[in-house]
Amino acid sequence: MLLQGRRALVTGASSGIGQSTAERLAREGASVCVNYYSDKEADDATRVVEAVRRAGTTGLAIRADVGDEAQVVAMVAQAASALGGLDLLVNNAGIEKQIPLLAMAEADWSAVLRTNLTGAFLCLREAGKVMAAAGHGVIVNMSSVHEFIPWPGFAHYCASKGGLQLLMKTAARELAPRGVRVCNIAPGAIVTPINRFVLDDPEAEHQVEAEIPMGRMGQPEEIAAAVAWAASSEAGYVTGTTLIVDGGMSLYPRFV
Ligand code: BGC
Repeated sequence: MLLQGRRALVTGASSGIGQSTAERLAREGASVCVNYYSDKEADDATRVVEAVRRAGTTGLAIRADVGDEAQVVAMVAQAASALGGLDLLVNNAGIEKQIPLLAMAEADWSAVLRTNLTGAFLCLREAGKVMAAAGHGVIVNMSSVHEFIPWPGFAHYCASKGGLQLLMKTAARELAPRGVRVCNIAPGAIVTPINRFVLDDPEAEHQVEAEIPMGRMGQPEEIAAAVAWAASSEAGYVTGTTLIVDGGMSLYPRFV
């Protein structure tokens, strides 16, 4: 097992990549706090906690909006106290919504930046304090191929993920001397609820598959596997970088 005895907090863990990640970390021996956003996700979060416990480790669900500073401070304190410390943060919570740039209201922009970038910053800062005090820890941010690929209709999303790249690199520099590694995982198109708008439309799904040299969307477990590795001591010399897990989507497949 890669993560025996490690204590992890995964944000946005009630579904999708977050859920798979929480369950994979548990199967690797980690205790896991399953963060979820609202009452609507509470039942799903409970099911993820049950899966964590079935893997034989400690699991608990914590409701918090990652964009709210007071809630993040309380969540990290609760996680560290319940698990007896914190070795791993997976900044996974994220939202997206297609809106043409010229029709984008400030509220649309702010909502995405608040969850995807400010949320990651707040969790990183709070968990980073616990880890730096202990002299070790790992922070893995779920970014996206849109950390570097522009995506029409998703300017706010791309800005948040691009921001996550330099947040990660800067944090990696600041925290390396304190024993804390920081890196990003950049998934391509993955079969999760965030992509329902594609999965429910066979033509759109076909277009996405045509953008992927491997010819298929990825499974959340394929991202969870990358997180487990990046979090483990097998990646002990890896910091300040992005691991792309996208079936080749970022290789300009349409370029001739
Ligand atoms: C988005 C997905 C999209 C993928 C590739 C991800 O960051 O969440 O909706 O399919 O990037 O474009």
